[in-house]
Amino acid sequence: MPDNKKTTPTPGFLESTKLTPPPDSQKYLIPDQPVSTTETFCLKKSGWKLAEARIIGLMQNRRSLRTFADKPLSLSDLSFLLWTTQGVTARRGDQFLRTSPSAGATYPIETYLLINRVMELKNGIYHFNIRDFSLELIGGNIPKEQVQHTFLQQKFLLESAVIFIWSGVSARTTQRYDERGLRYIFLDAGHLCQNLLLGAEAIGCGGCPVASFYDDELNTLLGLDGSRESALYAAAIGKKNMA
Ligand SMILES: Cc1cc2nc3c(=O)[nH]c(=O)nc-3n(C[C@H](O)[C@H](O)[C@H](O)COP(=O)(O)O)c2cc1C
Repeated sequence: MPDNKKTTPTPGFLESTKLTPPPDSQKYLIPDQPVSTTETFCLKKSGWKLAEARIIGLMQNRRSLRTFADKPLSLSDLSFLLWTTQGVTARRGDQFLRTSPSAGATYPIETYLLINRVMELKNGIYHFNIRDFSLELIGGNIPKEQVQHTFLQQKFLLESAVIFIWSGVSARTTQRYDERGLRYIFLDAGHLCQNLLLGAEAIGCGGCPVASFYDDELNTLLGLDGSRESALYAAAIGKKNMA
């Protein structure tokens, strides 16, 4: 990807797109617009060369899950899920390349976990150390009411085994791509989340992406300043209820 030095970063971007209480309850629905076309080609849903590949089943079955089994995740489950998002898979010079792509390999995303039900781990807030493939405990258990408020009363988060929270250290990407780099940070986060959801599907888990939270509250909870590093995206993960 070519470097772009033509623009200068606007520091207020995250600030001006923040959610703050009370939430705006109005919804705007924009219907899909038909495109104007002269020709339409039907695609094929069968006969794919890789039809047996497990990835197809994982993609087909992935659905946002908001009801979880009471069962805890094993440490091995959690390790696998973290690996799917940011596992180091190769070295290129001093870069640590990972399971998810990143614009210019600038890797602006950090991962924090709110652990609720994971074997061998006490409940609390953890930071994922990507290079060491380890978890660093950075805070104790958070009262349920606080988590619920921070995530706009979305109760399913409390029932999940673990909440992944992704933050962006924007300068890692904007120092290379200037203001356009802000776009790339959110795209990077999206890649991580999709890998996580497919990984979860592979081990009998499921989850739901979450972007509705009070920014300042979540940043405070994680000890982030909200400017140099700010929470961007989250996902609640847990074991599926098996029929
Ligand atoms: C960027 C993004 C933010 C989302 N935020 C929330 C959220 O805060 N709460 C929630 O319940 N679902 C959230 N979702 C899940 C969507 O509602 C869900 O993906 C959508 O309804 C489609 O359903 P599916 O994921 O089961 O295919 C979010 C999804 C995305 C991609």
